Amino acid sequence: MNKIKVANSDLKIPEIALGCMRIGEMPLHEVNKLINTAMDEGITFFDHADIYGGGKSEEVFASAVKMTPAKREQMILQSKCGIREGFFDFSRKHILQSVDGILKRLQTDYLDILLLHRPDSLVEPEEVADAFDLLYKSGKVLNFGVSNQNPMQIELLKKYVKQPLLFNQLQLSIMRTGMIDAGLNVNMKVENSLDHDGSILDYCRLTELNKVIDKLAKKYTVTNSAIAVAWILRHPARIQTIIGTTNSTRVSHMAKASHIRLSREEWYEIYRSAGNILP
Ligand SMILES: NC(=O)c1ccc[n+]([C@@H]2O[C@H](COP(=O)([O-])OP(=O)(O)OC[C@H]3O[C@@H](n4cnc5c(N)ncnc54)[C@H](OP(=O)(O)O)[C@@H]3O)[C@@H](O)[C@H]2O)c1
Repeated sequence: MNKIKVANSDLKIPEIALGCMRIGEMPLHEVNKLINTAMDEGITFFDHADIYGGGKSEEVFASAVKMTPAKREQMILQSKCGIREGFFDFSRKHILQSVDGILKRLQTDYLDILLLHRPDSLVEPEEVADAFDLLYKSGKVLNFGVSNQNPMQIELLKKYVKQPLLFNQLQLSIMRTGMIDAGLNVNMKVENSLDHDGSILDYCRLTELNKVIDKLAKKYTVTNSAIAVAWILRHPARIQTIIGTTNSTRVSHMAKASHIRLSREEWYEIYRSAGNILP
């Protein structure tokens, strides 16, 4: 498993992480198998959030691995807070309370990374800074970041928060390429990217995308999902990919993406086959 050296820190993280959003309702033995398979593949990074399964995902994770200090040391644990029932909350009090809950459920006394889950319009950045300071000084959280935030929102936080904001977790996949589209369509009227015919056109695009992915999966002798992961990993921004599968076999299949480097032509072919038109 290739690793990514995280800028402004000593962290080295595997380029594929396991997302734990859906494990809350799974039997413990299956979660145990899922985690062990991931670890065997070098996927030692686990992505959580306090709200996944209403807290159950974190609980089940710790129970399934029978968490001990030795096991804990082999993992990089990330969790998120800030989403509440019907509102977002980056208040000092809520951040501190959330982290205590997360640590208890994960049966650990520290988090490697804490992310603020979704922008809170009513954020008081001084409160975030204060909370992060307390969490850092107490050793409860070693590193910090955000999720779903735009650059200006991050800049605002950076003015107040002392610790570097190392991560911004964002949605990106072959079928959700907004981040890439914007860069390719600078100064263009993006009429081409609009879908005027609704689902029938989407359906044709999917067929074309599947055809291209099938072809590349055959070429690299991997599964289609490995190609989908390899497409993200090929981007020079060194993006860590969080896989959401709950299936151990698929974890092993997708881990193979770490050994594939798609060519520039292949990367663009996939992008175009998903229905994107180059300017
Ligand atoms: N920061 C945020 O706001 C945010 C938002 C969403 C997610 N996340 C994180 O990102 C992770 C991934 O989320 P996601 O939305 O990408 O994934 P997801 O929707 O949670 O899971 C992927 C789904 O696709 C299925 N799947 C995967 N590979 C497949 C294949 N080859 N064939 C058929 N089905 C397949 C999985 O089923 P199987 O389980 O059966 O494989 C699962 O139902 C989450 O666990 C979470 O950690 C973060």
